[in-house]
Amino acid sequence: MKRINISETTKYIGKKVKVCGWVHSRRDHGKITFIDLRDRSGLLQVVFIKIKDADKLRTEWVVEIEGMVNKRPSGMINKELETGTVELKVEKLNILNEAETPVFEITEDSKKIKEEIRLKYRYLDLRTKRMKNNLILRHKVIKTIRDYFDKKEFIEIETPILTKSTPEGARDFLVPSRLHAGEFYALPQAPQQLKQLLMVSGMEKYFQIARCFRDEDLRGDRQPEFTQLDVEMSFPTQEEILKLIEDLMIQIAKDCKKKLTFNPFKVMTYNEVIKKHKTDSPDLRKNKKDPNELAFVWIIDWPLFEYNKDEKTWDPCHHVFTAPKGELKDPKKIKSWQHDLVLNGNEIAGGSIRIHDPKIQRKVFELVGLTKKQIDEKFGHLLKAFQYGTPPHGGIAMGIDRLIMLLAGEETIREVIAFPKTGDGRDLTMEAPSEVETKQLKELHIKKD
Ligand code: AMO
Repeated sequence: MKRINISETTKYIGKKVKVCGWVHSRRDHGKITFIDLRDRSGLLQVVFIKIKDADKLRTEWVVEIEGMVNKRPSGMINKELETGTVELKVEKLNILNEAETPVFEITEDSKKIKEEIRLKYRYLDLRTKRMKNNLILRHKVIKTIRDYFDKKEFIEIETPILTKSTPEGARDFLVPSRLHAGEFYALPQAPQQLKQLLMVSGMEKYFQIARCFRDEDLRGDRQPEFTQLDVEMSFPTQEEILKLIEDLMIQIAKDCKKKLTFNPFKVMTYNEVIKKHKTDSPDLRKNKKDPNELAFVWIIDWPLFEYNKDEKTWDPCHHVFTAPKGELKDPKKIKSWQHDLVLNGNEIAGGSIRIHDPKIQRKVFELVGLTKKQIDEKFGHLLKAFQYGTPPHGGIAMGIDRLIMLLAGEETIREVIAFPKTGDGRDLTMEAPSEVETKQLKELHIKKD
């Protein structure tokens, strides 16, 4: 017999079915044992009357059950369960696997359990309803994003994970090269330069659900490894980029049954937002207690540079590839084509129209204090590419983890990532980082001290 999902059982009243899953809970009533059986699709009440080994069953054991789907008497209907109108009378029980008593209750929300325990036993944590639903929501939103961009004739292109270290803001994660002693790959902080190179290639409309890596201090909304919806297009106006993302967000909000504070989204200049709200990521919800309200605000007209008092340098406000608005004269005064999207007080996306003229790009590198040698070593490949007919281009990247966190009403992005790192950058499930064999180090030309 073919296995069916628990959520489908209501369609099989009076029929025999086979279901598989975990013993979620169990209640004994003399000769009758009830269990709630759980699979990914839901819970089902299962009734054992004189079935061999039923008394042995414990929570989280894995079982295969064949039996008859019966309608429950009207007084016994459980409105809390999707399958609450039926129950399964067992004819055959097959225990597929036994289980240790779980370290915390799978039947309850794990929020009150110490996070270290949850992360160590993440595979158990993900069995809980809220965590499972967060991952399903994540999947659905990413699917909506892929379908949306596909319809608009964007193509998803994978860019390398082993790439080059360039000074772009955060610290890089480095990977030593075995074949080239003393040389390193860097994991991408974002596919920024690669997506710009794809515009040089004539791809015109690119997107990617891209994994990014930044070795920076962690917070609730920051992970060393996170996911961006990365987008780039050729010949766009800034308005077109904003509209593209805005329409997608409106669709996602609708799918998730959320209310929009602003439709169309509010647009503020950097000066306006700082003057009015004293922050560049204001929370403009009308009712901050409403879990379903989403207040999207675009922030535009950012300064191109900001002064770094410690280093006495002009640093890019976002990154060195952002196009200036007008001429590159006084760094204090230059505005840029940067656009950020803020949602309920969180910066969820940022992007810009880019520089596509190699002369202007070189000038910006010089203004941020790079020497000619540094420019050629770190960015020579990009400047060279720009000499071969580069279209004007621009784009944006959105933090998928932050977006899902806000849609799910969670406080940290760890709640919407299957296997996140702790605050000090550890993966407690896999126990990474970890020491490696001396032989491996030798191959990588690394000496142990
Ligand atoms: P930026 O650095 O602003 O832009 O990143 C874009 C978005 O990515 C999310 N984000 C993070 N999410 C979780 N953990 C982190 N450590 C983290 N860092 C950033 C944020 C942020 O808004 N290449 C440019 C984009 C572009 O210009 O197109 C970039 O990466 O939600």
